[in-house]
Amino acid sequence: MPGCLLDTLAGQRTARRPVWLMRQAGRYLPEYRDLRAQKGGFLELVYDSEAAAEVTIQPIDRFGFDGAILFSDILIVPHALGQDLWFEAGEGPRLAPPLVDGAWEGLERAFRHFEPIYRTVTLVRGRLGPETTMLGFAGSPWTVATYMVAGQGSKDQGAARSLAYRDPSAFASLIGAIEAATIEYLLGQIDAGAEAVQLFDSWAGSLSPAQFEQWVIAPNARITAVIHERRPGIPVIGFPKGAGAKLPAYARETGVDGLGIDETTDPLWIDGELPDGMPVQGNLDPMLLLAGGPALEDAARGILAAFSGRPHIFNLGHGIDKSTPIPHVERLLEIVRGEG
Ligand code: CP3
Repeated sequence: MPGCLLDTLAGQRTARRPVWLMRQAGRYLPEYRDLRAQKGGFLELVYDSEAAAEVTIQPIDRFGFDGAILFSDILIVPHALGQDLWFEAGEGPRLAPPLVDGAWEGLERAFRHFEPIYRTVTLVRGRLGPETTMLGFAGSPWTVATYMVAGQGSKDQGAARSLAYRDPSAFASLIGAIEAATIEYLLGQIDAGAEAVQLFDSWAGSLSPAQFEQWVIAPNARITAVIHERRPGIPVIGFPKGAGAKLPAYARETGVDGLGIDETTDPLWIDGELPDGMPVQGNLDPMLLLAGGPALEDAARGILAAFSGRPHIFNLGHGIDKSTPIPHVERLLEIVRGEG
């Protein structure tokens, strides 16, 4: 019996709104911080399937979310493509060598890095009840490329954007390599037990309209088409953060089954733009969940009302902030579940 999250992605409006939160497993949970300290770091957790399965399930045990998102990271694909990957404390991810010219061909592939992730998926699926959906994920090629080219995060994604203009064929080749690895990785997650997958395009908002077509819509459309063809019935959620006015084109042209929207998008506007019956996911501002109080409650009710006419998965507009008080999450869930 599939849970209400899968029903919603199949286009049904369910009695209760399904809910999960991006980054629901993570630093706002004391049980996560404890296990991370025991294991020594974030990547140590990700590559330890038993520990990663436990972390994936922690927020389900505590809050009963409808979806369990695999505990991993979008940067596992660059690691598998042969870049070194580590996290600098207090700073963020580092990838070496940075692919300033897009030349990925000399890297030595290490697709074995996918194996522990698949094992995590299988462990989690085996431990979840049938009402909870196992969500796999990957980064979208554009967002992953921004990290691979710069060798780290950046404010304006300048290194990747300028490479895409300077040498479009080298950049297309890099996007193609990421795309192929991502397809293999997502198919592997599905075969291990993922029941839906999400494509995170956190930096989709930094591209001009023509570049958005080429580097966001086209690769996501190709990935979605292969998943639909090779694993029919597995829904794909696309999350092109910051896409704004380009969201309707993304929804139409990629073929994704559900559209993730960030907090800068007006729910009433996007509801009017999308085809009837297209499932949406989002879009509470994570800062409202951090702040709590009447502002949180009003905004949550506003989102529920705006999407009452279409299939809707309640979520944040981006990842939960690490300082979010747990009682705020509990209050939000009461509202979404119609208990308060
Ligand atoms: O949503 C979940 O709970 C599942 C796990 C998940 C993580 N990262 C765990 C994580 C998912 C889906 C991601 C996606 C991800 N990773 C994205 C796309 C979504 C987004 O947030 O925009 C991006 C851009 C990354 C790359 C990444 N990973 C960065 C830039 C950082 C450092 C920033 C930070 O918050 O420290 C990470 C680390 C990371 N990924 C953490 C977690 C729980 C924090 C690790 C820790 O210190 O414990």
